[in-house]
Amino acid sequence: MTGETLLSLARRAAEHAYVPYSSFPVGAAVLTADGSMYTGCNVENASSGLTICAERSAVSAAVSAGHREIAAVAVSAPRVLGTTPCGACRQVLNEFSPKDHDMTIFLDDNASGIAVTLDELLPRAFGPRNLAQAEQQNTTALHSGIDADAR
Ligand code: THU
Repeated sequence: MTGETLLSLARRAAEHAYVPYSSFPVGAAVLTADGSMYTGCNVENASSGLTICAERSAVSAAVSAGHREIAAVAVSAPRVLGTTPCGACRQVLNEFSPKDHDMTIFLDDNASGIAVTLDELLPRAFGPRNLAQAEQQNTTALHSGIDADAR
């Protein structure tokens, strides 16, 4: 049910895509931990490296409204069914993935959607928890150094 709601929001967002160069509209909708939904579309630029993908637009909208956890995302690219988020967007989605469960990504199949997980699309991801782990190891090493000095 959530998947269908998110997908219909993503389809509607794709209608606002600014795609004069690729003619490849994409819309995305994200679901935050508290159940709010935010949308985004791709916004291209004459300086092509500055193009913003739909998924990152939607994530930015959610984060700008104060959210830090994204439970699910829907992606709709009406010209190619089943379009998945690009590599850069997968990494950005991973930044806000829930701590206790996987993020679900609904792909548009012109029906009720194909559900995949971020872990399938970005296995062995590098993210904030890797940095937190390094911090933890530094703290542990520091403490064991202090303990060794005390002995
Ligand atoms: N695009 C997205 O918006 N999301 C993706 O995950 C794949 C690519 C956009 C970027 C560009 O405007 C157009 O699709 C063609 O690459």
